[in-house]
Formats: sequence, C-alpha cells, structure tokens
Amino acid sequence: MEVIIYPTKEQANQAAADFVASAVVRNPRIVLGLATGGTPLGLYENLIEKYKKGEVSFAKASSFNLDEYYGLPADDKNSYAYYMRENLFDKIDIELENTHIPNGMAENPKIACEEYERAIKASGGVELQILGIGSDGHIGFNEPTSSLSSRTRMKTLTRETIEDNARFFDGNPEAVPTHCLTMGIGTIMESETVVLLAYGKSKADAVAGMIEGPITSMIPASILQMHRDVKVFLDEEAASKLKLADYYKWVYSRKPHPDW
Ligand code: F6R
Repeated sequence: MEVIIYPTKEQANQAAADFVASAVVRNPRIVLGLATGGTPLGLYENLIEKYKKGEVSFAKASSFNLDEYYGLPADDKNSYAYYMRENLFDKIDIELENTHIPNGMAENPKIACEEYERAIKASGGVELQILGIGSDGHIGFNEPTSSLSSRTRMKTLTRETIEDNARFFDGNPEAVPTHCLTMGIGTIMESETVVLLAYGKSKADAVAGMIEGPITSMIPASILQMHRDVKVFLDEEAASKLKLADYYKWVYSRKPHPDW
C-alpha cells in the first residue's frame, strides 16, 4: 500500500484527481470502478474541472459502481444512480450506456448480481477502482465479517452504516434502506489499481485498522494489504491514528519518480 497523507482533504482530492485523470488520459478506454457517499465528491469536482478545461475526456471510458441501495429506483434522489448523474455523469462526457450500477429494483437480486459480475468480466475487468471506507471498515457495502472472497450480492447494512448514512436521508435512519447490492470483496480485489480516499476523524480507527492492523473480516478494508497496487489518500485527521504516519510521509516526500 502506498499511504499518501496531505494536510487537508482539498489537497488530497487534487492529488487523487491528478492521478485518476492521468490514468484516463493514458488509457482513454479505461474501465473505472466508482464509489458514492460523501468522500469522493471532492475528487469528482476536480475531475469535472479537468474535463471542462479540456485536460481529460471520458468519452471512451466505462464504469461500474460499487453498490446501490435495494428498493430505491434510479430516479429516487437518494439512489446511487441518481447521485452519479448529479455529481459526475451529467457533468462529463461519459456515455451513460457505458456506465453500470447494480439495479436496486431488480426482481431477482441474485440473478442481477450474477449478471453484474458477468458484465464486469466482459468489460475486461475494472482497471482503476475508487473506494471510500466506512467508519466500521467496510468497502463497498461489505460490512464486518463479510467473506473476504465475496462476489456481488445482496447485503444487510449494519446499524452503524445506517446511522452514518442517515445524513443523506434528512437525518432519519428509518428512511435508510436496510439492504443493498454490492460488489464483493473478491470482486474489488480483482481490480488492477485501487485508489482509496478517507477524510476526517471519524475514519481514523478504520484507516489504522486497514493499514496497520491484522487482515481480518472484522475490518473488511484490511484485505487491501493483499492487493498489489493500492494508493490511499488521507488528510491529517484520517491519518491521526497511524503509528507509522511519519514514515509514510518520509517515503512519499522522497519518491524518486511519481510513477515508481
Ligand atoms: C459507497 C461505498 C461506501 C462508502 C463508505 C464511506 O459507494 O461503497 O463504502 O465509500 O460508506 O461513505 P462516506 O464517503 O459517505 O463516508
């Protein structure tokens, strides 16, 4: 894992956007894995800016989102399909038909999840996966004790995640769907490169567990220690519980070349 710590999330978002945009420029047909929630909003804003300035085009790119609430139609303002159009897809030149999000209204979620897995494979696989992390260490909606080799499937959200996400539902936890369809941890682990973003104090424990703790399904993100190419972008607050924070900063400041 490459751990990159910036004083602020704005600086981390800019650096993450530079990395993502240059990957798209190098490989215009890139298959992106995308996340929702509060964390990637700044990254998406930076990518939209770069698109508007003509620095990057997504016209040939395709994408697969990590997850969707079960029971929310794509036009519900809290669905992740809606979020993606609002916060990224409608503001860049990606073709909507090349974007994929698990179908939260699938009659048979099991079949829908199997089809999602097949679509990812048929695309050649996710090349650059963007992730956030839950305060309980989840990635996608793979909550603690999820199988570390799981595939796309239905999951039940923990109370902690429902409470965390109530802010998007007018503060009402009762309004948060209890189920979701999410890429599995095994699915995420097959992506070529992972960019994980985490900001704020509320993520500090999960981040420390992910980077410096043992690999355990109690902190699903800790499996990323087994991934060959992960970049973790943090602000100081999210990094505040890392024992080796100074070492990570020292390594990054002495990087001989940005690509190495
Ligand atoms: C979102 C997702 C989740 C979030 C996580 C953090 O697609 O898969 O794992 O990344 O719940 O959410 P925020 O960013 O709202 O703190």
